Amino acid sequence: MSTTLDKIVALCKRRGFVYQSAEIYGGLNGVYDFGHLGFLLKQNIKRSWIQSMITTQKNILFMDGALLGPEALWNASGHTKNFHDPMVDCTNCKRRFRADEVDLEKACTVCGKKGWTEIRQFNMMFKTNLGALADEKSIAYLRPETAQSIFVNFKNMIATNRVKMPFGIAQIGKAFRNEITPKQFLFRMREFEQMELEWFCKPDETDKYFPEWVQAREQFYLNIGIKKEHIRLHQHTKEELSHYSSRTTDVQYEFPFGWKELEGIADRGDFDLSQHTKHSGKDLVVHDEQTNQSYTPHVIECSVGVDRLFLTLLCDAYTEDTVGGEERTMLALSPRMAPIKAAFLPLVKKLSEPVRKIYDVIAAQGLMVEFDESGSIGKRYRRQDEIGTPVCFTYDFESQEDDAVTARDRNTTQQERIAIDRIPEYLFKKLT
Ligand code: GAP
Repeated sequence: MSTTLDKIVALCKRRGFVYQSAEIYGGLNGVYDFGHLGFLLKQNIKRSWIQSMITTQKNILFMDGALLGPEALWNASGHTKNFHDPMVDCTNCKRRFRADEVDLEKACTVCGKKGWTEIRQFNMMFKTNLGALADEKSIAYLRPETAQSIFVNFKNMIATNRVKMPFGIAQIGKAFRNEITPKQFLFRMREFEQMELEWFCKPDETDKYFPEWVQAREQFYLNIGIKKEHIRLHQHTKEELSHYSSRTTDVQYEFPFGWKELEGIADRGDFDLSQHTKHSGKDLVVHDEQTNQSYTPHVIECSVGVDRLFLTLLCDAYTEDTVGGEERTMLALSPRMAPIKAAFLPLVKKLSEPVRKIYDVIAAQGLMVEFDESGSIGKRYRRQDEIGTPVCFTYDFESQEDDAVTARDRNTTQQERIAIDRIPEYLFKKLT
């Protein structure tokens, strides 16, 4: 049985990971809301990413920039001029497509008639005006990448953090793109979150650091439990490079709809800092005390979407198997990423009270755990399997006699008896 995007979407909806945004008003295309489990999974993704930055033992600072930027900033970054996709309309049904995604020799796939407009360039930034006066000076854009907040704060960060070259600035935050055709669920959205690192180094150090970062970022995905055979590297051809990049390597994942970019590692050279120096009039350079010369640092960027990684983890963990003659769906997430770490289940409702007490003790330690007393035990196991909970502890009639519970492993469904006072130690081992 294969994993399909439809199955992932259905599970996300059924279990409350992800909802279509503003669904009661018909939904907003390419925009999603995350429910309880979705929120928790996202937090685990972000925490692991931050951890992966800290454990490089490199000099990395963190920041959280604004979502809105003035037009001058986006002129400097090249986004007002270059950040567009080719667009074409069907003259019959008026549907709009990305020109590189349709065969203009053939008829429209929606209405079956052939008639296309000229290809036009469509800028993907969301434009707005700040304040009550909608004039030229008040134009602002929602950021299409978090990176620019880092570049425009380069001077502030270096001046306030006693940091020495080489160093990195990492950020997690929202980005917005008016995609012509948002699609494949969380893969291509209009509002999404990025995790970006900008690594600043001397111009002649990029050849050393670029492969180091590619290797570190590939390793990150293996560390969070993604299967090695679903990950590969792809080097951009000249035609594929973004306007700011001289070389890019993507970490690709094999989604149900093919191999696609998960993360991009780009050599941005001095493009951004030089552009902002030119447009703002502020020198974004550093002084090398050894050579007594100033230079514009070069940048290696590692950029991945939180939501795209969310989808990746679900695709990778989605499993259908048969247990005791019954089909089940299971998310084989690594315990570190699982939204709920353990479930505490009384075999029957009248055993609830002692289980509640155990649950309270574990929850008070700050672990995300669940207590569930309703429905048959089989149904409760199925639910926990489907949301990826690594272990269920069940309290039964014997528990009253032997002060022990059964611990059921999600992947194997095997059960073992463990003393109640050993639960914290058992969980610690399981989760690390
Ligand atoms: N600062 C560089 C940059 O933004 P990008 O390749 O356009 O480069 C980086 O985006 C990452 O952000 C992608 O690899 C992907 O994980 C995520 N991403 C980009 N566009 C997205 C979208 N429309 N929806 C969801 N994630 C997206």
